[in-house]
Amino acid sequence: MSGFAFDEIRREAEALGPWFHNIDLGGVVTAPEHFLGDYPAVKWRRFRHALPADLRGRTVLDIGCNGGFYSIEMKRRGAARVLGVDIDEGYLRQARFAAQVIGVEIEFLQMSVYDVAALEERFDIVLFLGVLYHLRHPLLALDLIRHHVVRDLFVCQSMQRGSSAQLHVEQDYPFSEADVFDYAGFPRLSFIEHCYAGDDTNWWVPNRACTAAMLRSAGFAIESNPEEEVFVCRPNPGDGHPPIFPVRPRRLGNGVSA
Ligand SMILES: C[S@@+](CC[C@H](N)C(=O)[O-])C[C@H]1O[C@@H](n2cnc3c(N)ncnc32)[C@H](O)[C@@H]1O
Repeated sequence: MSGFAFDEIRREAEALGPWFHNIDLGGVVTAPEHFLGDYPAVKWRRFRHALPADLRGRTVLDIGCNGGFYSIEMKRRGAARVLGVDIDEGYLRQARFAAQVIGVEIEFLQMSVYDVAALEERFDIVLFLGVLYHLRHPLLALDLIRHHVVRDLFVCQSMQRGSSAQLHVEQDYPFSEADVFDYAGFPRLSFIEHCYAGDDTNWWVPNRACTAAMLRSAGFAIESNPEEEVFVCRPNPGDGHPPIFPVRPRRLGNGVSA
């Protein structure tokens, strides 16, 4: 912990709110009333064993890092470099403050997942937690991540609804086969036209079979599924779809590409 006084942390945490991530900043908790409890600590406890305990010398990209909870956990495991990106500058301000109070060095950058090619860098571990269903173009995002930024491990978590059964999907079906679409374990992505859970950024909610199928289709081999919503993957060499956008990184004036 750095040398912030308790009252200073409390005041600043309040000014930066509301928080989605509940983080303990020297006794000040940032989202004590979270509707999912002590979130995301309760989630993390269910899959943390599936990631390497020692991340020394490894690089991590946390896409949709929010208030920085997972970026901080990666740094606590000794990661050499952690970059957190998010489209929301308000959340990034929270993340910078949390990292500063806890005393860990993490880079935070405002960026959309659709622009990850601009990083022109691969990371040993890429976290993509709780973002997939917030996207209008989830497969495009997975294709871009697979193609441009994952070197070794890809950890994806999505809200899921519907059956958690996973049907073995055949390579092909005859045109006359219609029943399979009604099977509980068939990959299904539900489109939210308006709003779900009061959040109009929830667009597509997969069932468990669909999360797995989309990951495979984007060129990932699923190594484990330590928690119903969490998939630990590695790139399948030579597999995946080249993303249709952007074909190659575009240079911006500030040295960063987009
Ligand atoms: C439900 S929160 C998940 C936060 C964190 N990864 C976790 O699992 O606790 C979704 C986050 O994704 C971010 N986000 C949404 N769309 C994004 C996009 N296109 N690119 C990057 N981040 C995005 C939001 O700003 C928000 O911080």
